[in-house]
Amino acid sequence: MQYFLSLLVYAITCTALALTRRAPTPGQFSQVTDFGDNPTNVGFYIYVPQNLAPKPAIIVAIHFCEGTAEAYYAVTPHAQYAETYGFIVIYPQSPYSDRCWDVSSQRSLSHKGDGNSHSIVNMVIWTTKQYHADTSRVFVTGTSSGAMMTNVLAATHPKLFAAGISYSGVPAGCYYSEANDEDRWNFTCANGQSISASKHWAHIAKQMYPGYEGPRPRMRIYHGSNDTTIYPQNYYETCKQWAGVFGHDYDNPRKVLNDTPLSNWHKTIWGKDLQGIWANGVGHTMEIQGEEDMEWFGFTKCANSKNENCPGVPK
Ligand SMILES: *[C@@H]1O[C@H](CO)[C@@H](O)[C@H](O)[C@H]1NC(C)=O
Ligand SMILES: *[C@@H]1O[C@H](CO)[C@@H](O)[C@H](O)[C@H]1NC(C)=O
Repeated sequence: MQYFLSLLVYAITCTALALTRRAPTPGQFSQVTDFGDNPTNVGFYIYVPQNLAPKPAIIVAIHFCEGTAEAYYAVTPHAQYAETYGFIVIYPQSPYSDRCWDVSSQRSLSHKGDGNSHSIVNMVIWTTKQYHADTSRVFVTGTSSGAMMTNVLAATHPKLFAAGISYSGVPAGCYYSEANDEDRWNFTCANGQSISASKHWAHIAKQMYPGYEGPRPRMRIYHGSNDTTIYPQNYYETCKQWAGVFGHDYDNPRKVLNDTPLSNWHKTIWGKDLQGIWANGVGHTMEIQGEEDMEWFGFTKCANSKNENCPGVPK
């Protein structure tokens, strides 16, 4: 009996280990454990396409509050595009009960921190090693709280990402907590009352990685004009921030394209590295513009060099 029991325990332990250590199944939403340093316990889910490209690109896709990695996988088109273009999608999952991201504490708001942003970076590093991914084609995108984290990652880890896209977010540092609380909702910012100059917002972003002078991700910012959760003022503030970082004059964009990419929306272009997309009449819940975004990340063939979505010289 004793012997049988220990054999059983041994068998169960081996099965559990095999399950947790098992490589992600191609074509299936899978969980990864044991990917590296993760002090804030962020969940790591992944979609490796069946049609994996050699030296694949990576897209980090970050969920909204009260969302999950699986919910974001289900409501966004990234996994389908992964089968077309062969890239890998990383879906991090917030460890907090409100399932928002920590975009308020120093831990997460700095290059050297050990908060949520640090864990997501470690997921990218793990995936890069595991799949020999192309480190020059790592992208980040997210919705609402996930868009806030997108802006934070672009500021704290500019070297890691080639481009970013935020949907209905706020500038990096706008949820900053005076008390240094983790995962703190900031009504002043959410309600569009954190208004600052382009230069000041740029300074806040740059201070997240002091002294860094290298390349930064090209940024695209989406916001709906009827958003009453994250007020649309945050669109202007976020565009001011990246315009300042890239050295563009926020008040003098290079061009404004009406009815682009959809009718009644408009796209403002400050340079190859910054676009804002204003969605007239759209509320907080915004559909991902898959085709547009695949171009911004450089997956669609950019034969026409005049196409404003196409990346310039790759980093
Ligand atoms: C909310 O964020 C702003 C910056 O956008 C900051 O000045 C303010 O102190 C924050 N509020 C709290 C309660 O920490
Ligand atoms: C958006 O807000 C405007 C101004 O408040 C309002 O007139 C319009 O009906 C709203 N659109 C939608 C689609 O809710």
